[in-house]
Amino acid sequence: MNELTILAESFEKIKNYLQTNNDQTTPVVKFRTPAELAEVIDFGVKNDGISEHEFLGLLDKYLEFSVKTGNKQFLNQLYSGFNFPAFIGEVFSVLANTSMYTYEVAPVATRIETEMIRLMNSYAGYKEGDGIFVSGGSNANLIAMFSARNRIFPEGRFYGYDRNLKLSAFVNEQAHYSFETAANVLGIGAKNVIKVKSDVNGSMIPEELEREILSSISRGEKPFFVAATCATTLLGAYDPIDEMASICAKYDIWLHADGSFGGSLILSDKHKHLMKGIEKTDSFAWNPHKLMNIPLVCSAILVKKRGTLQHNITDINTDYIFHDIDEIEDLGKKSIQCGRKVDAVKLWFAWKYYGLDGYRKRIDNLIEMATYAENQVKLHPQLELLVARQSFAVCFRYVPSQETDLNKFNLELRESLRKKGKSIVNYGYTGGKLAIRLITANGELAQSDMDLFFDNLLSEAHRLERKYMKAYVEA
Ligand SMILES: Cc1ncc(COP(=O)(O)O)c(C=O)c1O
Repeated sequence: MNELTILAESFEKIKNYLQTNNDQTTPVVKFRTPAELAEVIDFGVKNDGISEHEFLGLLDKYLEFSVKTGNKQFLNQLYSGFNFPAFIGEVFSVLANTSMYTYEVAPVATRIETEMIRLMNSYAGYKEGDGIFVSGGSNANLIAMFSARNRIFPEGRFYGYDRNLKLSAFVNEQAHYSFETAANVLGIGAKNVIKVKSDVNGSMIPEELEREILSSISRGEKPFFVAATCATTLLGAYDPIDEMASICAKYDIWLHADGSFGGSLILSDKHKHLMKGIEKTDSFAWNPHKLMNIPLVCSAILVKKRGTLQHNITDINTDYIFHDIDEIEDLGKKSIQCGRKVDAVKLWFAWKYYGLDGYRKRIDNLIEMATYAENQVKLHPQLELLVARQSFAVCFRYVPSQETDLNKFNLELRESLRKKGKSIVNYGYTGGKLAIRLITANGELAQSDMDLFFDNLLSEAHRLERKYMKAYVEA
């Protein structure tokens, strides 16, 4: 067997795998414990290589035991689905393997990334904006905080951050943990990220933000960064950007929008009002690898002011890479990474393929599916909606007819669905109650997929109820 035969066989495997995305009889995962996985796959690397036949066998095993995130019953994470043009774009960009730092080695990708940043800025309303693709939303949040720090203390780039200045940052109490990591990495300290109270739906309360800023100032601190979360990770809540922008303007604080989860909502004319005021922010993290279904990773940090990102970088005197000979700025000069994947390329292929309208419809569909799922919960007497749906997340639990520990029951329910590979949904805690969190992230979801999910969930819940009842009678 030669490499061309492997290529042809791999192509067949890809075709077969893709068919299972729409086949509801294929489990979402063939669950194995770590020890069981080691029994079915030889993970070690030996001195001698393996035969082509063994290589093909490993490809099969890899697909067989991986989670099928393109399957419509994968409703677990903030990403899901299979995006055909983006997949092809990814394969071709890997084929032409290159790095984003210079036009010299990535001429087409440089033009593509520049165009994607321009297009994304046009949605954000950043007229003089800029941006760059980064390795995920967490890193986009880091670059935003880094840019905010460099705006007020530019000399920090060279001499380090003077801790006597006591910088403080403000986020929704339900914001993503990456802000604390960013403060840790930047030497600001995770404890100086102040958690601002949110309302019953999970949105930051603007009056609480102002109160926290004032009390930070009274402690002799320097508030420098506020993040508005555009869809919190558990509840999908949007912070009130417009009101937060007025507060930030009053105290001269950088306002960042963390749209790592829900930033793509901006593509929907119907729903973008949830991000009202986005053009007033200083930066915006937007992850096309979530709701736009681009294969991981595809993530951008946009900034309102051109020059911000270059300013972050410590003076570059590297004539061994940046030669400035191609009548275009090398994108590497705005990135803290040197080698960087051409992640904008797969997004470009997908956006070209679906068009602006196509993507608008995909995002509208996600909200429609979440609304449909929310209604299914409301209609069923044994399903309890724990928090009103804010966007793409539906948080609920099953309430058995017999009194029981609801957190324990719902955890078991979720785990048994997952381990059987029927449907995968995630969970988190809200007000001490375990919430099953269903996410509509796959742009191709239809009502029948939601129906199948609830059928799976309810039949599993009834089975568990019978088990609990039997144990109760026997006890
Ligand atoms: C609100 C929010 N911010 C940031 C992130 C981090 O994004 P990434 O996983 O791309 O690092 C997430 C991830 O789920 C998120 O939900």
